[in-house]
Parts: sequence; C-alpha cells; structure tokens
Amino acid sequence: MRAIKVKEDFYWVGAIDWKVRNFHGYSTTRGTTYNAYLLIDEKIVLFDTVKHGFEEELLARISSVVEPSKVDYLVVNHIEPDHAGAFLRAVEVIKPEKIFITRNGKQGIISHFHKGDLPFEEVKTGYEVKVGKRTLRFIETPMIHWPDSMMTYIPEDKILVSQDAFGAHYATSGRFDDEVDYCELIQETRKYYANIVYPYSPQVAKLLQTVKEMKLEFEIICPDHGVVLRKHIKDILALYEKWSSFTCEPVVLIIYDTMWKSTEKMAYAIMEGVSKEGVEVKLRNLTVSDPTELMAEVLESKGLILGSPTLNNGLLPTVSGFLTYMKGLRPRGKIGAAFGSYGWSGESVKLLNQYLQEIQAEIVHEGIRCKYAPDKEVLAQCEELGRLVAKKIKESCSA
Ligand code: FEO
Repeated sequence: MRAIKVKEDFYWVGAIDWKVRNFHGYSTTRGTTYNAYLLIDEKIVLFDTVKHGFEEELLARISSVVEPSKVDYLVVNHIEPDHAGAFLRAVEVIKPEKIFITRNGKQGIISHFHKGDLPFEEVKTGYEVKVGKRTLRFIETPMIHWPDSMMTYIPEDKILVSQDAFGAHYATSGRFDDEVDYCELIQETRKYYANIVYPYSPQVAKLLQTVKEMKLEFEIICPDHGVVLRKHIKDILALYEKWSSFTCEPVVLIIYDTMWKSTEKMAYAIMEGVSKEGVEVKLRNLTVSDPTELMAEVLESKGLILGSPTLNNGLLPTVSGFLTYMKGLRPRGKIGAAFGSYGWSGESVKLLNQYLQEIQAEIVHEGIRCKYAPDKEVLAQCEELGRLVAKKIKESCSA
C-alpha cells in the first residue's frame, strides 16, 4: 500500500473499496474510494480519514511517505462515517497538534465519538493557516453534504480538497481523471450528484457563484470519492452548474409499475404519443429498475410521467418506495403527468399527482384513470397525453 503523488509534496493516501455494492441504499456498482490526502510542508497535514475498517490502509499509505506520528495537523472537512470512521484511530496514532474543523463538525464528532478533549480548532469561511510555504484556506459548505461540511483550498498550488462535492462512487486503479474512461467518469459523477448532492442544488449554485466571486482557480480538485480531477475540471464544474440550476434535457421518462399489464399498456401508449412528437422517451418499469441508476435519469429528464395501478387504496409498493426516495432528493423543473388502472377505488392517479406537486412539477393534465383494462378509447387518450407532455417539453426547451 503506497501513497500516490498528486503534486509536489501532496499525496493521495486514501482507501479503495472494490467490493461495496450497497452504500446505505445507493447501488455502488463500481465500488468506491474513501479519499484522504497528505501535504508535506513545514507542517504535515492530513485531510480527512477513511471509513471504519480501512484504517490500516490509510496508515500504511501515509507510512510510505512519512511516519504517521509526524503528522501535525488533521483537517476534518466532513464528518460522515465514510470519511471520519477512522477518525479516532488516526488521532490515536497521529496525536495531532491541531484538528481544523467547523463548529458543526466539532459538535458532530463529539456526538459520534463522545470525546471532546481533543485539540479542535474551529474554522469559518476565510480562516487561513500558514503551514510553511503554503496556506490552508477554509470554505464552509454547509449541506454539501452535511451541516458540518467544508472545503480546503491551497492557493499556492491551486488545489481544492472538496470532500463529497465533485466526487463519484468509482473504484479504479487509476487515481486521476485522465487515467480512467471518460464516459464512466461522467456516468458515475452524474449518478453521485443525483443521489447525494441533488437536494442541495441551491447550495451548490451558491458555492459556484462564490468561487466565481473569489476568482478561485483550480489546477487540481481532490474529492473524497472517486478520482482526482486535473484534466476534466471544466467539464465537471459545467455539469454541476447545469444540474444545480435544474436544467434538463428534452427527454420524457415514464416511470411505472403494473399488476396485470393494464397500467403497462397505458405506459406503452403514452410512449407512442411522445415518440410521435419526435421527443426522446424512456420507459422504466420499477420492478426491474435500479432506483439509484433511475435517479441519474430523473436528474436530466424534463418530462416525468408516473404510472401505478391502485392497490389497497394506494400505490404499488415499488412505486411509492421509489417516489418517496425521489421526493427526498428534491428534483425541480419537471413537466409531469400521471396515469394508472384500477378495479374499484382508483386513488393511484390522485396520489401520483400529489408526488408531482411535492416536487413542484408543472402538471399538464389531470391524469388518466382506467377501470380494469384500457380499451381503444383509453389508449388513444394515453397517446394524446404523451403528445401533450412532449409538446410542452418542446415549447419549454425552445423557450
Ligand atoms: Fe462521502 Fe457525505 O460522505
């Protein structure tokens, strides 16, 4: 286990989790990394630690550069356990002179570990520390990803240690963005934004504005997951700008599930209507769709048409489960509609519309309810619904 040099005196010393496939519900199909970084200057600084269970990998990588007990400062940019799970073990070995952390971070660490007698030094945006030839400049980024979150900028090297932001759950042997497949990198960055960062889009937009105002330049961005960015920084920042402003593509996503194929027949008829208007459409049956992957499609699709039959006066559990997850991620800027079949009570369309209202979608139709099985007339209505949503999307995307 060795450190990887990122720049002169600056190393990646994190851990690679090749095997993880479920990260508190997030399907990490390509594994992940827990990144930590080491700066060697007059003071030696460790940025973040790793998840519990990877402590020895972290310490071994540090040891390949310097004896861990020689580390002077620990910067805790984020306290979520995938980055602070090894905090106590690292502190025990390093015995840092100072631990730089936000007030929320300090309180969180104390609540997690019930240990307050540590050399914490609370920092705020603009707080700077000289560590020799270099400076650590802290930027609070509350809610990107937790209330404690911050980033550290090293102006002399134009390095941003960005904790969760700009990262991806992506385990690779390459440590840099120019050593991995570009399409995979973008795919995993999109998936990460949609499932982790999406609810905090207003904060991301504000951060990007602050970066512009402060005229910060980045040569290297070091996130806490995935690869170090040095070649595709512009692309990733542009994507964050797009996603945080809720800019979507003219694509319709039909998300549904079905019991006896009636709702599915409706879904196919709606798809036909969208297609006839020349708009791209994707059909996603929730029984066979991965919610994490699906959220990446929700992120970029302007149209969201939801379908479920009525089951026990409610929605199918696959549908209500996914929509509860989606609602929490706070998508915005969608054009929506709903449909579903029923036997006697028929609440599903009303419930689907409630979800659309909760994500502030523009609902362009009251929804189509179908008793038992759709006949030609209902299928024609469904096709018209697809056409209507597609037309609205064309208007909206050309405006
Ligand atoms: Fe990767 Fe919010 O922790």
